[in-house]
Amino acid sequence: MSSNLTGKKALVTGGTHGMGLAIVKALLAAGAEVVLTGRNEQTLEDARTELAGQAAHVVRSDAASMADIAALADTARERLGQIDHLFVNHGIAAFAELAEVTEAEWDRHFTINTKGAFFTVQALSPLLVDGGSIVFTTVGNDLIFPGLSAYSASKEAVRAFAHVLAAEFLPRKIRVNSVAPGFIETPTMGVPGLSEQEREEFVRQGHESTPLRRTGTVEEVATAALFLAVDATFSTNVELAVDGGFAQGLPVTH
Ligand SMILES: NC(=O)c1ccc[n+]([C@@H]2O[C@H](COP(=O)([O-])OP(=O)(O)OC[C@H]3O[C@@H](n4cnc5c(N)ncnc54)[C@H](OP(=O)(O)O)[C@@H]3O)[C@@H](O)[C@H]2O)c1
Repeated sequence: MSSNLTGKKALVTGGTHGMGLAIVKALLAAGAEVVLTGRNEQTLEDARTELAGQAAHVVRSDAASMADIAALADTARERLGQIDHLFVNHGIAAFAELAEVTEAEWDRHFTINTKGAFFTVQALSPLLVDGGSIVFTTVGNDLIFPGLSAYSASKEAVRAFAHVLAAEFLPRKIRVNSVAPGFIETPTMGVPGLSEQEREEFVRQGHESTPLRRTGTVEEVATAALFLAVDATFSTNVELAVDGGFAQGLPVTH
């Protein structure tokens, strides 16, 4: 990362582990002050310990709760004053094929991944500086997996409103972009609650089906996210795939 972010303020939802934490660490290394969120008390505490002594504010905020989202805006105003770069990264997924998808699970995906992402931006919008940036974490376009219909639909909706928000933020020169990860090795692989065996199988599938024949790292996603947020000053409404060629029509023949 080339840019110096000294004096810049950033907020990362779902920043306590995985890609979000890598984004937080890259921001801190570049000199930014960061508010990061999560929901699970243990992972919040782990993040507090890991980031102790740095310009990081670890805040419990459930993206499924409108009250928490409103409180997050208050906290961000108190701690940061304004936000230069907003990363809407939080997300959950759970495997269930058609017959097993319950209404509650469908709603959980859309409440956290879609509604939570949208209303986070709405609540934080007054704090965003003109000329700032928003980066959503979506998912690779062609990452089509049996059992992930609710998840995929919830992220497609984010992709859809990201385009509209890119247009709506034009008058404020706020750029709105997305990173679209493929198979990235995170503690959960994006699917909290997987058994270690299921997780290993998911990683194996990633190695086999990705044209570059490996899974990606959280640092590779963070590099792409910060590029969009900070350095890509003439890019808006772009979705940058970070997927080893997965969605780019390349063969997996070698
Ligand atoms: N890993 C992949 O291969 C992959 C691929 C494509 C897209 N993605 C997407 O990339 C993003 C990051 O994935 P990851 O693999 O890094 O996931 P992760 O390691 O599971 O991290 C997810 C983050 O979101 C937070 N979060 C979950 N539910 C939340 C809620 N209701 N409110 C606030 N925070 C919440 C988690 O905090 P808690 O500890 O509190 O749960 C955690 O900080 C997600 O949007 C995911 O869908 C992942």
